[in-house]
Amino acid sequence: MSGSISLDEERPAVRTFEKRQLRDVLGSFVTGVTVVTTLDDEGKMHGLTANSFSSVSLDPPLVLWSQATSAGSHAAFRDADRFTINILAEHQYELANHFATRSPDKFAGIDYDLGVDGLPLLRDCSAWLECKVVSRFPGGDHVIFVGSVECIRQSTRRPLVFGGGQYLVADPHDLGRAPLGTAGTMKSQPHAVRLASRAMLRLAHTLDKTLALVAWGNHGPTVIAWQAATTPVAADLPLGLVLPVTSSASGLALAAFLPPEAVDRFVTAELRDNARQASGEVLPTAESLVSVLESVRVSQVATRRPAPFYDDRMLANAISVPILSPSGMAVLALTAIGPAEHFDAAADGHCAEALKAAAYEISAALREA
Ligand SMILES: Cc1cc2nc3c(=O)[nH]c(=O)nc-3n(C[C@H](O)[C@H](O)[C@H](O)COP(=O)(O)O)c2cc1C
Repeated sequence: MSGSISLDEERPAVRTFEKRQLRDVLGSFVTGVTVVTTLDDEGKMHGLTANSFSSVSLDPPLVLWSQATSAGSHAAFRDADRFTINILAEHQYELANHFATRSPDKFAGIDYDLGVDGLPLLRDCSAWLECKVVSRFPGGDHVIFVGSVECIRQSTRRPLVFGGGQYLVADPHDLGRAPLGTAGTMKSQPHAVRLASRAMLRLAHTLDKTLALVAWGNHGPTVIAWQAATTPVAADLPLGLVLPVTSSASGLALAAFLPPEAVDRFVTAELRDNARQASGEVLPTAESLVSVLESVRVSQVATRRPAPFYDDRMLANAISVPILSPSGMAVLALTAIGPAEHFDAAADGHCAEALKAAAYEISAALREA
């Protein structure tokens, strides 16, 4: 195999994508955000927001960034023999927008210090690299600048992140291993709540269902977090709402994976009330509950056929899945709720599958923590 890269000149120059699509695809590559600064011949400061910054080599220390030839400051950077990379911190998104907007004097009202060669170092950044230009390469409508790093500084501020056309913040990957030294010290439930809260944000968006996170409290299944869908199932979603064990999807998902001593007193009281209640609703009996709980244990999904939601204003369907501790006990239930007429709460439907996948992933992370 040859080590050289050859361009196939015979290949017809047919482009199968639009510029917009290319930009979207490139947006999948998440980056930090920098402001690159320099001084022109007359000592005037220039700076622009750039996420094209990248490391090139550690030894010798080289970095690169690229600038659109159409940028107002291009002539200054093209002719300069130095640049400084200011790696923006999480709180500096307005500064990023400021330096991404043309203006005659971008540095007016901005806090900065001067680096060893007199180039501006923006205050409160995450890190700084002062560089000497070693090469310039044409790159389509951009010029690529390679710089030799001469001076570096770093703060403890977390870096700002950019991806998919928006500013983001960087958090350690929750589904990776627990941070060194914390393994074994982390109790399952707080960790599970943290992981599930993040999953709920994603699921509420992709499924467009209201999601509830339910823990087993002193009074039984208790909602500890909500994530509303575009059209929530109720105007107010109260935290601390206590759900029935035997006739809510969340209650069943938890009860199926908790020891009888935790569950039995609630079940006994509810079954007694069910027997007294003369509503047309089909409520579980002691016999039916045994087989319902067994099937929840097998499928790891509990469903609730149409029933009035807590404020009785609408009929809602629900699907709930247990999040299991390393010993196989339910630490939380993750539940999707939607108006009965729009929400098919089938135990083998796509919503149930998405909830199960999220719960499995979280349960697996708890086992590894
Ligand atoms: C997050 C972000 C990243 C950017 N990255 C670059 C880049 O790498 N290179 C570039 O030339 N422009 C980039 N831009 C656009 C410039 O910041 C913008 O065109 C700016 O107005 C150029 O300043 P100037 O016209 O004063 O030179 C980026 C803008 C944003 C918001």
